[in-house]
Order: sequence, then C-alpha cells, then structure tokens
Amino acid sequence: MDKQTQDELKKQVATKAIDYVMQRLKPNDILGIGTGSTANFFIDMLGEYKGRFAATVASSEASAERLTAQGIEVRDLRDVDRIAIYVDGADEVNARNEMIKGGGAALTREKIVAAASDEFVCIVDSSKQVDVLGAFPLPIEVIPMAANLVSKQLKKLGGNPVLREGVVTDNGNLIIDLHGLKIENAPEMERSLNQITGVVTNGLFAVSPATVVLTS
Ligand code: 5RP
Repeated sequence: MDKQTQDELKKQVATKAIDYVMQRLKPNDILGIGTGSTANFFIDMLGEYKGRFAATVASSEASAERLTAQGIEVRDLRDVDRIAIYVDGADEVNARNEMIKGGGAALTREKIVAAASDEFVCIVDSSKQVDVLGAFPLPIEVIPMAANLVSKQLKKLGGNPVLREGVVTDNGNLIIDLHGLKIENAPEMERSLNQITGVVTNGLFAVSPATVVLTS
C-alpha cells in the first residue's frame, strides 16, 4: 500500500473515531489520546469538538504538544480521576483485539493511559490487521544500563533483538525491537517479557486488549 493511500485510510478511520467518541462522551469526561500518525489525524480533527468534553490526557509529549496547538486542554494523569475513552493506533492487531504497539516508542505511557481508561478504541487501517502477531518487530522499553542484559534474555526466547538507534523515550529509556517472532499466545508472551529484569514494559497489549477496533 503506498503512503498516500495509507494516509487516506488513516484519515478515514480517524473520522470514524470522532463519530464514535462524540456519540459517547459527556461534557465532564476526560479523553485519552494516543501517539502516532493515525492518532495525529484524530487530534487534528478533535479541535472542532473541544467544547464536547472536559480535557484530555496524552500518551506522549508529542501528542500533548499537538493537542495544545489545537487549543485542547491536556491534563496530567495524576490530576484525573477517570478517563472515559482512550483512542490510539496500533502496529498490528489480531481478531482477538490483541495488539502490538510502540512503533512510535510511546508504548509505556500508552499502556498506562490505556489502563486508566474505561474503554480502548483502537484505530487502524486495514494493513495493520493480521492473523498472527509478530511480523512487526515487538518494541520493548528498557532501562538503559540493562540493554545488553535484556538482549541476552530475549535471544533465549528465540527472537532477534535490535536496539533502536538514536531513540530515547519520553521516560529516558531505550527501545529494543524484537524481530522474528510468531506470537500465538500473546497474553502469555506479554507477561513473561515483563518478568525480565530491566524491561520497563513491552508493546504487547494482549492481557488487556482493545475494547473495540475501528478500521478503514
Ligand atoms: C506509537 C504507537 C502507534 O500507535 C503505532 O506505532 C501506530 O502508528 P501509526 O498510526 O503512525 O501507524 O504505538 O508508540
């Protein structure tokens, strides 16, 4: 799929997400906002509707800046009691609504904001829908001093870990992309990767999958 076509599809699914959330949000509700190009299309459309909800919580500095530029209030998660809906893209999603996320290196904050939300609305173009997760390299956020230690453990799982060059997360950590996986049991893999000392979190969103997946 060429980039222009994919961007068109991302815009279409962002429009669907606007319809979806505007039918459900109440004036006092907080909206959680993801990270990436699909989320950006959603943010760019959201400015028009800013009177329809109270504020947002963002999953990255980049999304927070983009929301602010739209005149939309961004709150710290610590100042918020409840997030009604979280809207975010994904790198892969399967038929059980389990996802790989973190292509934009925002996976940890994404998982935190998603966990604080009543509902996760995943927005993807059709190229992201897969039967088995793992063709997209699985991002893993690691504490910098543990990068080699974690890589050694990841090799034992049969994957090929590659440090993402030149990337530091909003939390000051590094990203290792784990190539060559075929993930049949995503919740089990998510849990076991999180047991490796030095891992902050991994990009599998399977223990708590998306509530709904909107596609174009
Ligand atoms: C960022 C993410 C994104 O949601 C994911 O990478 C999809 O990005 P895009 O919408 O640009 O294709 O998880 O960490």
